[in-house]
This record gives sequence, structure tokens and C-alpha cells, in this order.
Amino acid sequence: MPKISQWFIGSAVIYVIVGMIGGIIMGAKQDFSLAPAHAHLNLIGWVSLALMGFYYNANRDKAESRLATIQFWVSTVGLWIMIPGLVLTLRMVPVGEPIVIAGSIITLMGMILFAVSIFRSAPRRV
Ligand code: HEM
Repeated sequence: MPKISQWFIGSAVIYVIVGMIGGIIMGAKQDFSLAPAHAHLNLIGWVSLALMGFYYNANRDKAESRLATIQFWVSTVGLWIMIPGLVLTLRMVPVGEPIVIAGSIITLMGMILFAVSIFRSAPRRV
């Protein structure tokens, strides 16, 4: 498996473990106020990033491109900013809103870079 796929899938499985622990804590406390943060951590962090990892595993030429590494970091940083921003927003902390907006836009940029990676022709082997 290409290194970039391991990065995507390896980080994704960490996010889903954190997300599941958060889900269990929510259930145990019967406080579901952070459910949207749980959902986004699981669906972006686990589902989307793991899918990207599997895509790069199936398209080895693209996995070796610099775009794939850049895309990994843009998607990762976007998630790291978006989820805490969402938690703060759901906790009614005003500074959370600009943070979640910035994180969401970076997360979107990561997905756009992934689309570019999909649609552009594979780099030539040297
Ligand atoms: C141990 C595993 C998990 C536990 C204990 C758990 C627990 C929960 C709980 C307690 C809620 C709130 C329900 C409510 O508001 O009534 C929730 C919502 C949700 N969960 Fe999970 N969850 C788990 C895994 C996952 C995974 C893997 C995903 C996605 C891949 C996911 C996606 C969602 C979504 C989309 C919602 C709805 C959020 C909303 O209404 O804002 N969950 N989960």
C-alpha cells in the first residue's frame, strides 16, 4: 500500500476511535449537544479520509504525486480546525464560529484538491 494511503487510512481509524469514544460518552451522559461534532468527525475524518486512502491505493501513480501529499495535509488541517471550532460553537463560545468557518473552507479546499487529483491525468513515470 502506498505511504499516502497508510497516512489517510491510519489517521482515519484514529478519528473514528475518538469519534466512537465521544459517541459512547454522549450516550452515557445522555447529553447529545455535541452530536454534530461527533457526526462530522466520523463522516469527514473516518469515511471521507479512508475513502481517499483507498482511492490512492487503487491509483498508485496518483498516490506518488505531490498533489496527494498536499491534499492529505489540507484535508487534515481542515479537520483539525473544523472539529474544535464546531465543538466551541455548539458550546456557545463565540470564537468558535470563525474557527469552524475557516476549518470548513479548508476542508472544502481539501476535497476540491482531491477532485483535481481524480480528474487530472496520472503523472508520467520517469
Ligand atoms: C461506538 C460507536 C458510536 C456511538 C456509541 C455513537 C453514538 C451516537 C450518539 C449517542 C448520537 C446522538 C444521537 C441523538 O442525537 O439522539 C450519534 C449521532 C450520530 N452519529 Fe454516532 N456513534 C457511533 C459511531 C458513529 C459512526 C462510525 C458514524 C459515521 C460514520 C456516526 C455518525 C453519526 C451521525 C451522522 C449522527 C447524527 C448526528 C446529529 O444528529 O447531529 N456515528 N451517535
